[in-house]
Amino acid sequence: MLTHTVEEGPLLNRFRTLWDEIAPIGRDERSDGYLRYALTEPELRLREWFRAQADERGMPVAEDGNGNLFAWWGDPDASDAVLTGSHFDSVPHGGAYDGPLGIVSAWLAVDELRAAGVTPTRPLVVAAFVEEEGARFGVPCLGSRLLTGQIDAERAGALRDAAGVSFAEALGARPAGPGPALLGRFAAFVELHVEQGRALIEQAAPVGVATAIWPHGRWRFDFTGEANHAGTTRMADRRDPMLTYAFTVLAANKEARLRDAHATVGRVAVEPNATNAIPSRVTGWLDARAAEPETLTGLVEAVRAKAAERARRDGTEIALTEESVTPLVAFDGGLADRLATLLDAPVLPTGAGHDAGVLAAHVPTAMLFVRNPTGVSHSPAESATDADCAAGVTALARVLTELTGP
Ligand code: GLV
Ligand code: MN
Ligand code: MN
Ligand code: MN
Repeated sequence: MLTHTVEEGPLLNRFRTLWDEIAPIGRDERSDGYLRYALTEPELRLREWFRAQADERGMPVAEDGNGNLFAWWGDPDASDAVLTGSHFDSVPHGGAYDGPLGIVSAWLAVDELRAAGVTPTRPLVVAAFVEEEGARFGVPCLGSRLLTGQIDAERAGALRDAAGVSFAEALGARPAGPGPALLGRFAAFVELHVEQGRALIEQAAPVGVATAIWPHGRWRFDFTGEANHAGTTRMADRRDPMLTYAFTVLAANKEARLRDAHATVGRVAVEPNATNAIPSRVTGWLDARAAEPETLTGLVEAVRAKAAERARRDGTEIALTEESVTPLVAFDGGLADRLATLLDAPVLPTGAGHDAGVLAAHVPTAMLFVRNPTGVSHSPAESATDADCAAGVTALARVLTELTGP
């Protein structure tokens, strides 16, 4: 019951049609960025759109009890399915492409296969993973971590957003946790994603194949001191956690540079957050990434030691909490080589996290990157030309034809 008929017109037009359907959803007029937090109204609309796309193509959708959606073309009991897809959710004021490009490309690749009369010999599955960015509940790749058992279902269900709503409440049920039976049905996963750096610009290539994801993680620093009056407290009498925090940000930057690693403090919370009060508490979230696991561990330890030393001088206290860590991901080398040869595309590592990185420990996984002419991501400036997006769809369709073929 494959009801979908591929529209006439070149792929570029079909890409634009589909892209324009979702472009307004969750866009913030002021920043021109996206506020598509997992399981909030815009993301729920995108999930509805996903179901409608699946319906049009006669692909039944199954949810895994963790908030991840899977649309099946072919026997859902087969154990050699090829999975493709990505996520809808965004970082605060994020770009349009990070995530949704992989899902839109997946639908168009299905259409390409059908238009070419390809009948897959194994099922082809389109996925939308939930809470990839961790922007709402704090842990990135939450849906794929749950599915693979990389996070405890109780812990995941209890994670709360800024308004105090738990993931379980947002989902409407306690997350189901690991799905080994479902995972066992996938013989390969290919996630197409906008590139989040400049490698493809430099190599003048529209599409690349990922080799690895740097190990990375999130650490919360809580700096506590003493709230007091900004006008009457002598400088020598202060216990100001903002100073310890500021020093720690500089230390993170310095230690990362020394190691060719990346360190970012992109989120901070201050209490009581008043111009005329010394803060009682400052919380800063450190995002750190490095090519090698030892470098990452060394970086975080060096920042912790410097922060602790500075806290002694400031009369403040620090507490460090590891919120999430993603180990080094080396994608299936054979698969990456095969795809790079098939597409005549360059290979590249990345510092960005993806559901593909989480699934890679369980399913042979590859990623395709589409060139980003600004090289900017997690920002409204993220972009991709329609022509490169169409090239991405063509590449994905070739890959899926190859992987689902005899
Ligand atoms: C997710 O996009 C991440 O790399 O943080
Ligand atoms: Mn992202
Ligand atoms: Mn992404
Ligand atoms: Mn990501």
